[in-house]
Amino acid sequence: MESDGAAEEVKQPEAPVDVVDTPKPDTAHKAAPALTNLSSTPTTTQPTTSSAPEIPEEHKHSKLATPAVRRICKELNVEIHHVRGSGKDGRVLKEDVLKFVENGGNQPAAQTATPSAPAAAPVAGETTVPLSFIQAQMFKTMTRSLAIPHFLFNDAVHLDPLTTIRKHLNKQLESDKSSSVKKLSYMPFFIKAMSLALNEYPLLNSRVSTEGDKPALINRPSHNIGIAMDTPAGLIVPNIKNVQNLSILEIAAELNRLQKAGSEGKLSPADLKGGTITLSNIGNIGGRVVSPVIVDSEVAILGVGKAQTIPAFDKDMKVVPKTEVGFSWSADHRVVDGATMARMATLMKSYVEAPETMLVKLR
Ligand code: COA
Repeated sequence: MESDGAAEEVKQPEAPVDVVDTPKPDTAHKAAPALTNLSSTPTTTQPTTSSAPEIPEEHKHSKLATPAVRRICKELNVEIHHVRGSGKDGRVLKEDVLKFVENGGNQPAAQTATPSAPAAAPVAGETTVPLSFIQAQMFKTMTRSLAIPHFLFNDAVHLDPLTTIRKHLNKQLESDKSSSVKKLSYMPFFIKAMSLALNEYPLLNSRVSTEGDKPALINRPSHNIGIAMDTPAGLIVPNIKNVQNLSILEIAAELNRLQKAGSEGKLSPADLKGGTITLSNIGNIGGRVVSPVIVDSEVAILGVGKAQTIPAFDKDMKVVPKTEVGFSWSADHRVVDGATMARMATLMKSYVEAPETMLVKLR
């Protein structure tokens, strides 16, 4: 299912991240499962096998499930014979498993074969609060993300050369009457660097299709880069379309437009649909290593931590100050291997660390 589908699809808040405030990239992901960050914790929807009902007669055809569906069941800790299959001859489909998980391990009400468990007794002082619209969307989107086996790749990126260029350009832009953009943050450079790297590694801009008989990859020519935004309403992820054709100034103008629309609650469905990869910069708030969560219409996401000045050695082994920022990638390990992710990340890092190298690649 392409992410530019129905309105409900496109309003999904995408790309939550776990913020891990310690620079231990190889342990961070393991220590912080992909979905434990925000107030919605879909992990709690996972059914426990101990309270599972007996196998109803009509579920016994679940054995017909494909290996892919069995794998998803394994990943989600679901006993396949507890799931009612809606496919031919009661075959259990991927959607049946995801629906089962979304329902907290119960069959949807109309199909429930056994009475649902009694509601937990109220505890003094506890209150029940319905999810906000955005939390409800986040709940659905992130529950689907549970089916994606994530791996994390983290690296430190040197920011001083970009900071110098940015200051220089911002001074010029202040007095440039022809430019509507008066200030460049790091983001337009990160976004352009990501797009240039995608030119070499288009796999990271693709999506996995499970609609046919066999899983396939859909390659996408447009780099529609989703930007996770912290807005008064919550997390929203509009995307900048066709970044491959935009200059850094044009990216900045579009980012400003989306940021303004996001803060005023005026993003259009067109702004929200069709994303192909996501960039989540949590660094203006804090944190160093993050563990971003991929949405099911994409195969990768980059989380950016907070830039920090640290002591480093120069070529004469003297201690000098250096500004570094953590880039944390999550990729879909069903289709992306670690070496490809590392090459893509290293290429993007090279553009950010030496922004002048982007010049010769710009169109
Ligand atoms: N490290 C340190 N400082 C950073 C930074 C980073 N990684 N990223 C941005 N900053 C700085 C900017 O340079 C700017 O400072 P300056 O005015 O001195 O230059 C300041 O933080 C504010 O930047 P901002 O206005 O937020 O612009 P931006 O283009 O850097 O970021 C957004 C735009 C939309 C990404 C950002 O506002 C946002 O919403 N971030 C949160 C995303 C989020 O919630 N992700 C989690 C998803 S679960």
